Amino acid sequence: MASKGRLVQTVARFALSSRLQGRVPVIVQSHAQSTSTQPSDSQQPPSVTLSTEDLIQMEHKFSAHNYHPISVVFAKAKDVEVWDPEGSKYLDFLSAYSAVNQGHGNQKIIDALIEQAQRLTLSSRAFHNDKFPVFAKMLTSMFGYEMMLPMNTGAEGVETSIKLARKWAYEKKGISKDEAVVISCCGCFHGRTMAAISMSCDNEATRGFGPLLGGQAKVDFGDASALEKLLQEKGDKVAAFLFEPIQGEAGVVMPPDGYLKKVRQLCTKYNVLMIADEIQTGIARTGRLLACDWEDVRPDVVILGKALGAGVLPVSAVLADADIMLCIRPGEHGSTFGGNPLASAVGIAALEVVTEQNLSERSDKMGQEFREQLRGIQKDYPNLIKEVRGRGLLNAVVLNQADLGNATAYDVCMGLKNRGILAKPTHGNIIRLSPPLTIKREQVAQASKALREVFEFDLADMKLHAEDRSPPKTPDACDRCGRYKYVMPETEL
Ligand SMILES: Cc1ncc(COP(=O)(O)O)c(C=O)c1O
Repeated sequence: MASKGRLVQTVARFALSSRLQGRVPVIVQSHAQSTSTQPSDSQQPPSVTLSTEDLIQMEHKFSAHNYHPISVVFAKAKDVEVWDPEGSKYLDFLSAYSAVNQGHGNQKIIDALIEQAQRLTLSSRAFHNDKFPVFAKMLTSMFGYEMMLPMNTGAEGVETSIKLARKWAYEKKGISKDEAVVISCCGCFHGRTMAAISMSCDNEATRGFGPLLGGQAKVDFGDASALEKLLQEKGDKVAAFLFEPIQGEAGVVMPPDGYLKKVRQLCTKYNVLMIADEIQTGIARTGRLLACDWEDVRPDVVILGKALGAGVLPVSAVLADADIMLCIRPGEHGSTFGGNPLASAVGIAALEVVTEQNLSERSDKMGQEFREQLRGIQKDYPNLIKEVRGRGLLNAVVLNQADLGNATAYDVCMGLKNRGILAKPTHGNIIRLSPPLTIKREQVAQASKALREVFEFDLADMKLHAEDRSPPKTPDACDRCGRYKYVMPETEL
């Protein structure tokens, strides 16, 4: 056991030092556990010590079981391509949940990381550093806000925005102490911290974690009339409306056209902060810099994460104008690592790549082509595909469970994996397809072809194998209100 532990440390150290020297990260050769296989498709295959199977078993034994991953191990990645320890190549159609918009291992971003790592990695905000102000200036001017507050993960950005909204509500709106309410949407996903899950109506995320945070209410996503009704009744206690412009985790759920504009009008009318969680949709993912740009809407507060660190480091930020942001004063909120020089250097490079490579336009164009191809497949399999939807390169294929038998979207994703495409199901019957925005036309076509082949050649077998399984669960009603779509009971307000 002890020698296995040492081996893991050696592997990790070697991989890190290789990366910092700009070399291809490889896994060291080991005497005891060599299960090396011939690479199927790689110029410089990683030499294998621990096989895919070894690594999956090791993770299962030593790590908490808080995910249900597709059984593939990433050992190396460049742009859209990923290699497993055996050297098999895949195309990444998840992009780490839209964190890798700029493509894996973008050279400019890696160079910025290495250069900065050799000079200065952390000052903490107890002192100033020479990178963070440059990042703050660049980010605010690119997105058109006066100020930013740096954090690390997306969930921390969400927490920050809720704290900021409450502080603003007490200081500027005059809501009585501890009475501020933040409204969020049914089906939302804002992360896994207590405040973020308190916004959620997903039993898996909330069950067993109570008591949840008070001071929140829910409306159906996309229903501006429901929001207006709530604001008419309780608007004087409402600090903010927190929403995703497109609900990514819910399965790329799009609001009706005009919704964002209507939300903007309502938030202005009732003096409520409009907080757009653009952690997944922002930074060119949907074919615009922000998804709110599709309706020319400027939220009061924008939360960014994921691609702000380009999949290289966790970098998140909250953007707002000074009259809102300055409600938070020294000592009231912060993070040891937020605004660190390494993250700032990566953030600057990440944003430069988005501009230099016209990633918004690219995402828009490639996304349209991709959906056209997927709709072509839908035409040939109308019973199997209920809907193809999305914007830019944030897309989803909604499968018809009735036509899948006991097989699931997870099985279809395994079929895609066997054909070299990595995608992940969400909410049982939905497959989200969100490759890096640097993807080439041929690679988009490759994914469409793989999906078609899964339906054409693999599906019958999948259904047969799933026959003795129990049928996939239908979602339960929300624990908190008994509805399938969650609406906070009136009394909670
Ligand atoms: C819209 C949205 N908000 C917040 C988060 C949480 O981000 P993180 O996982 O970095 O905490 C996510 C992550 O998927 C997200 O999609």
